[in-house]
Amino acid sequence: MSSAAIGIFDSGIGGLTVLREIQKKLPKENIVYLGDTARVPYGTKSAETVTLYSMHNVNFLLQKNVKMIVVACNTASAFALPSLQKKYSLPILGVIEPGSEVAIQKTKSGHIGVIGTEGTIRSQAYQNTLSKLRSDLQISATACPLFVPLAEEGWITGEVPEKIAATYFEKLKQAIHTIDTLILGCTHYPLLKSTIQKVVGPEVVLIDSAEATAFYTEKILKEKNLLNTVLENGKVSFYVTDSAEKFKNVGELFLKQHISEVEHVSIGTT
Ligand code: DGL
Repeated sequence: MSSAAIGIFDSGIGGLTVLREIQKKLPKENIVYLGDTARVPYGTKSAETVTLYSMHNVNFLLQKNVKMIVVACNTASAFALPSLQKKYSLPILGVIEPGSEVAIQKTKSGHIGVIGTEGTIRSQAYQNTLSKLRSDLQISATACPLFVPLAEEGWITGEVPEKIAATYFEKLKQAIHTIDTLILGCTHYPLLKSTIQKVVGPEVVLIDSAEATAFYTEKILKEKNLLNTVLENGKVSFYVTDSAEKFKNVGELFLKQHISEVEHVSIGTT
C-alpha cells in the first residue's frame, strides 16, 4: 500500500503548485494528478456543483488505487471537503486547514487577511477554520477573481497585475495596516507572490497553502505508516478532462519543470 500513489486533484492547472511542493518534500512518492480542465473554473460555481465535481474527481483517483487524496483546489476544499471525508474512507486532505495553521503560527498582530476565489471567500471556510483554531483572531477576507486568468496567461508581474492587486487590496484598506499575515487562498496566487508582496508591503507575511499542505501530507502518511520507502524517485502521472496540449504548455509555468505526458480522460459518469 505504501507504494500506491498520492492522488491530487484540482479544477485545472493551479493545483500543480501543490504538486510541486509535495514532490519537493516527498520525492519518493508516486503521484497521480487530475486536472478537471473541462469544468474549470470552480471558483464561480455553487457549493452543490463543486461538491459533485469533486466526487467525480475522487472516484477517478480511486480507480488509480491511490492511498490518500489531496484536494489541491481551495474552492473544492472550501465547499466539498467535509462531504468527501464523510463519504470515503481513505485520508483526504484539503488546503484550508494547513494554510490556516501556518498563518496562526506566523501572525503577531492576530489580524489575518485571506484572499481567494469568490466561492472560497463566500463559503467562509477560511474564516470558520481560523476562528475555530484561535477564537480571538481578527480576519479580513476578499475575493480576487482576476488573479486566476492573470496567472494562466503568465501575466504575473508589471503594471497591470500590480494595479489589479492594488484595487483588490483597496477593499482591505482599513484592515491592511494591522494585517501582518495574508493567506494566498487559491492555487493560482503563489504565482503572483512577488506582485502581491510588492503591493501589500514587505512586512506582511504571505502564506502559501501549497507549502503547508505538503507538510501535512507528509505528516498524515507518516502517522498512517504509508510513506513510500523505496530508494528511487516516484513517478508522476497527469490526467486532464480537456485538451492535454494546453495543460502541458501552461502547466510547465506552474510546475517549473517539463511535463512529458498528459492523458485526456472523461469523468463524471461514476
Ligand atoms: N483551483 C481554484 C482554487 O484554488 C482556482 C481556479 C478555479 O476557480 O477553479 O480555488
